[in-house]
Amino acid sequence: MIAEAMAEGVKIRDATNLDLPAIMEIERLAFAQPWSLDSFERELSLPFSRLIVASPMARGASPLAGYLCRWLVADECHILNVAVRPGMRRRGIAERMMSDAITEAKAKNAQVVTLEVRRSNLAARRLYRKFAFEERRLRIGYYGSGEDAIVMELKL
Ligand SMILES: CC(C)(COP(=O)(O)OP(=O)(O)OC[C@H]1O[C@@H](n2cnc3c(N)ncnc32)[C@H](O)[C@@H]1OP(=O)(O)O)[C@@H](O)C(=O)NCCC(=O)NCCS
Repeated sequence: MIAEAMAEGVKIRDATNLDLPAIMEIERLAFAQPWSLDSFERELSLPFSRLIVASPMARGASPLAGYLCRWLVADECHILNVAVRPGMRRRGIAERMMSDAITEAKAKNAQVVTLEVRRSNLAARRLYRKFAFEERRLRIGYYGSGEDAIVMELKL
């Protein structure tokens, strides 16, 4: 049951500019071709974009655990980026952020949530399947490395 697996000790909140150093640290640890600082700053300024973070409840205790970026355009929520700090994985933190994004999308009357995932990223593919995302089609050579993307979709 998704609710039972949810991470304890973190709260989900909107990111601010002050979170960007920690977000960049996680981004560089998580991806071979990380987004730039400019990209995150741009997301914070776009009205249809939302960047959320999983932040420790206890002040000053541990660093940011993870973040998720989504766009909400017309009736579609698109998840652009999600990552969790390596030492904090497998505690339900990504699941918690995904759950927040999906709940918000439903509340705002989105009809579908979409995302792209590397074919080789079995951890992320399992995460999305846990939310009943379906693998719809391939984007051949979508990533810079030449790897294919799988387009996944969750009808709300
Ligand atoms: C993918 C990622 C975000 C998952 O974060 P996480 O907080 O560890 O995930 P959760 O603990 O919430 O796991 C939820 C579910 O995802 C799946 N999952 C997560 N990590 C997994 C792994 N290493 N292997 C297999 N399944 C995994 C499981 O189904 C898991 O549920 P379970 O624990 O009940 O089996 C994290 O591994 C990460 O940051 N990876 C690098 C960045 C990345 O690939 N982002 C996705 C881009 S599309």
